[in-house]
Amino acid sequence: MKHFIKETDFAASELPGLFAHARSLKQGRGRPAAPVLAGQTWAMIFSKSSTRTRVSFEVGIHELGGNALFLNKNDIQIGRGETIQDTAKVLSRFVHGLVVRTFDHQDVEALTQHCSIPVINALTDFLHPCQIYADAFTAAERWSRPGGTGGDLVASLRGRKIAYLGDTCFNMANSWILGASLFGMKIALAGPAGYAPGEEIRAQLKREGRPLDFQFTTDPFAAVKDADIVYTDVWTSMGQESESGQRTAELAPYAVTAKLFAAAKPDALFMHCLPAHAGEEVEQAVLDNPRSIIFDQAENRLHMQKAILAAVARPLRA
Ligand code: CP
Ligand code: NVA
Repeated sequence: MKHFIKETDFAASELPGLFAHARSLKQGRGRPAAPVLAGQTWAMIFSKSSTRTRVSFEVGIHELGGNALFLNKNDIQIGRGETIQDTAKVLSRFVHGLVVRTFDHQDVEALTQHCSIPVINALTDFLHPCQIYADAFTAAERWSRPGGTGGDLVASLRGRKIAYLGDTCFNMANSWILGASLFGMKIALAGPAGYAPGEEIRAQLKREGRPLDFQFTTDPFAAVKDADIVYTDVWTSMGQESESGQRTAELAPYAVTAKLFAAAKPDALFMHCLPAHAGEEVEQAVLDNPRSIIFDQAENRLHMQKAILAAVARPLRA
């Protein structure tokens, strides 16, 4: 059973095909796509808010010929204590795949163990792999030659440097650490000492036999030096609302200002998973910069997730 709950669930050798498929789906949008999910229903269990992820998955499943069933956690019995194990077994009898957004990454791992259908991680506190794949594709679109192969898209990422600013011990930073390792990119993260990448991502890299070669610094200007991408995310993630005041004070020195962005490479791209809080983690002028590709990132969630769905879906038996 193929699941997609972390970046490395696709091997490096599978990436050219996946990226090429995402690009062909993007170029062909407006014409019917191969209905690889025809006759299938995919359940989407969300325990947190979402604009991009929810809409792009619902639209993507529909465009691939399938039916999306959105289930707010509180509408189903899991919100009243039914176990993950039983929920997984029951849903596996009804639907053909699961898209899950929740807090604890171990809950998604538990689902994969008890489901007999593919599971896709739509964000946990630990990782947000769909975002990283769409982001990598978005940067590769800029860097690879027009008309190149999927291999060219993926190769355009190799050796590039991403600078990640702000909260460097939560889902987006963790996911970029793992993604950079998979895509052969360099990553430097800058934040306060208390926000350094944590044990969980280090343990994940070790388990996979990957080098712990990310750089962490408390100096934002050191991180962005020679960077091809400057990336940030909200300072207060979903579930951290009670810490908002403290986070805003402690992370303030890591805001992506026009001055900080100008200290990266002259052709560096600005990226943000969104939603953004202008005037907090990033200045409005940076969001509006011609080298800001935030809305391309958002659009590419749709195309990349359709390619991911097509790759993990199991065809109905004839
Ligand atoms: N970037 C992202 O996942 O956005 P949503 O929370 O709106 O889905
Ligand atoms: N770190 C953010 C990402 C939102 C897409 C959060 O978890 O709220």
